[in-house]
Amino acid sequence: MTEKRTVKDILARKGREKLTMLTAYDASMARLLDEEGIDILLVGDSLGMVVLGYDSTVPVTMDEMLHHCRAVSRVTRAALVVGDMPFGSYQGSTDAAVSNGIRFLKEAGCDAVKLEGGAEMADVVRALTRAGVPVMGHVGLTPQTAGQLGGYKVQGRDLESARTMLAGAKALTEAGIFALVLECVPGDLAAIVTGAVSVPTIGIGAGSGCDGQVLVINDLLGLFEQFRPAFVKQYARLAPEVRKAVTAFKAEVEQGVFPAGEHTFGASVDFSSLLTDEQ
Ligand code: KIV
Repeated sequence: MTEKRTVKDILARKGREKLTMLTAYDASMARLLDEEGIDILLVGDSLGMVVLGYDSTVPVTMDEMLHHCRAVSRVTRAALVVGDMPFGSYQGSTDAAVSNGIRFLKEAGCDAVKLEGGAEMADVVRALTRAGVPVMGHVGLTPQTAGQLGGYKVQGRDLESARTMLAGAKALTEAGIFALVLECVPGDLAAIVTGAVSVPTIGIGAGSGCDGQVLVINDLLGLFEQFRPAFVKQYARLAPEVRKAVTAFKAEVEQGVFPAGEHTFGASVDFSSLLTDEQ
């Protein structure tokens, strides 16, 4: 079995070996991804849209995150498990951020947390790491505050916002993050940020110049049909497969084809006396 990855292992991969991160929200998927050698399982707050049916990540609660983090961490043996801090759990005060961050480790078995934001989050990162909670940063498109950014759009397309993002990445690194997600950032800018920080960058819609890549598992598998961002590569198209399987099940049950003999339990007792008892 592959050994459990640590935050130190992830840091040491910078500039040496590309990192892989995928989202996972439940035990069966986590087990599969872990066994296939994915380095980091992110219990993303994308949970809200992908699993819980919300319109955005904003309504996701601490209880919802902890519930799904527990399912993932219970079965994960090798990958680093990162829990996404939901909107409102770390912006209000540093003390609240620290106590919520600790809950991800203590109550949900996570190895680290992720939070969104640039330089303005440096103090929170410092407090969390001082309390023993490893933190992954997230800049560029930050879905929890997409409204303020003008929607789900590529970030850092002009020099001023690119400079702010670069400064944010450096401030977060200086504050103690162990890795940084770059979401929806022009490839050239992502490569510059990657070269400017000592921690691995993990891109999503940020080109090949990052130290690693992350995708939402439902996008990668082609399970989420409502919407497909341009940066997503579908490695499978499972939604039509699911439809096909479910339609076949429905038809076979309705026609009395399923369950067949091989799906039915037998017993060594003759139950026919039960019929006479009944009469
Ligand atoms: O919530 C999430 O899935 C994420 C990834 C897109 C990085 O933050």
